[in-house]
Amino acid sequence: MLDLSRIDFMRRGAFGRMLKTERRMRQRTTTGARVVCVASGKGGTGKSILASNLASRRAERGERVLLVDFDAGLANAHLLLGLSPTYDLGHVAAGTVRLDEALVEGPHGLFLLSGGVGRPALADPGRRDLDRLFRALRPAEDDFDLIVVDHGAGMGFGTVAHLAATSTLILVTSHEVTGLSDAYALYKRAITVNPTIRVGMVVNRAPDEPTATAAWTRFREACQRFLRTQPEWIGFVPADPAVARSVEYRVPVTTSAPDSAAARAFERVSSWPPLDLARTSSAFYERALRALR
Ligand SMILES: Nc1ncnc2c1ncn2[C@@H]1O[C@H](COP(=O)(O)OP(=O)(O)OP(=O)(O)O)[C@@H](O)[C@H]1O
Ligand SMILES: [Mg+2]
Repeated sequence: MLDLSRIDFMRRGAFGRMLKTERRMRQRTTTGARVVCVASGKGGTGKSILASNLASRRAERGERVLLVDFDAGLANAHLLLGLSPTYDLGHVAAGTVRLDEALVEGPHGLFLLSGGVGRPALADPGRRDLDRLFRALRPAEDDFDLIVVDHGAGMGFGTVAHLAATSTLILVTSHEVTGLSDAYALYKRAITVNPTIRVGMVVNRAPDEPTATAAWTRFREACQRFLRTQPEWIGFVPADPAVARSVEYRVPVTTSAPDSAAARAFERVSSWPPLDLARTSSAFYERALRALR
């Protein structure tokens, strides 16, 4: 016969905890911000241009978007969006200001957390700095639909912690062998620290489609040969003078020149279907905190 007192005990004990965890996980698939990281390894490939256009377009479509400029100390997302933030993630990590005080509102209602310029505070963050920063950023997951993290060049500790925690990464590269080689190194690192990560690749600033496609083919073949896996192809963004003009105007190209070839390509990147699924089973910043240990 069924022992009801035992079920009651189980509900209160480990079984109950399991049910709660399962319920929380089910909630996480429908609530909490989706997080997408934008990285490349190599500098100057167009990460910040892509991240700012992505954030702007998703905000224009009605999502609550937070752009985190993680290029601490060398930030420039605020310039691309025409913003002048007083505070940055260094202040947030130090506890000088609250997260909501550091955020500035940009085009289409997106919010930016700047990386700060010329302040050494978080230029080369260590475990303790990142721990404080991730704890401070954790509440943002309840207030936004999408968090876009714009990484600086290289594979610093902070970037690797993000790669270990994120469900989704956009890898931005040039068509040149130098860009592809750094993108390969970053991709390899990402799948090593996070085997379930979903990675999409964009070849930016391509002179033409055949050049972009050839670069993608070379990259994909190298990945298959040495890693037995490959990223997904999102597409390419052409080299377009409208981008340089948008930098000068400090308005994303998807807003300043929506009919330009680059804007149309960024629009396609913003519609990459995995962006709608970029949720982890537990809170992103909790996973990032665990990755620091
Ligand atoms: N599709 C494009 N067409 C023309 N110019 C482009 C394009 N994408 C980027 N650029 C130019 O390249 C410059 C560098 O881009 P961006 O700042 O986004 O690179 P990044 O990868 O973020 O660099 P960093 O590694 O320093 O953070 C931009 O200022 C812009 O003028
Ligand atoms: Mg950048």
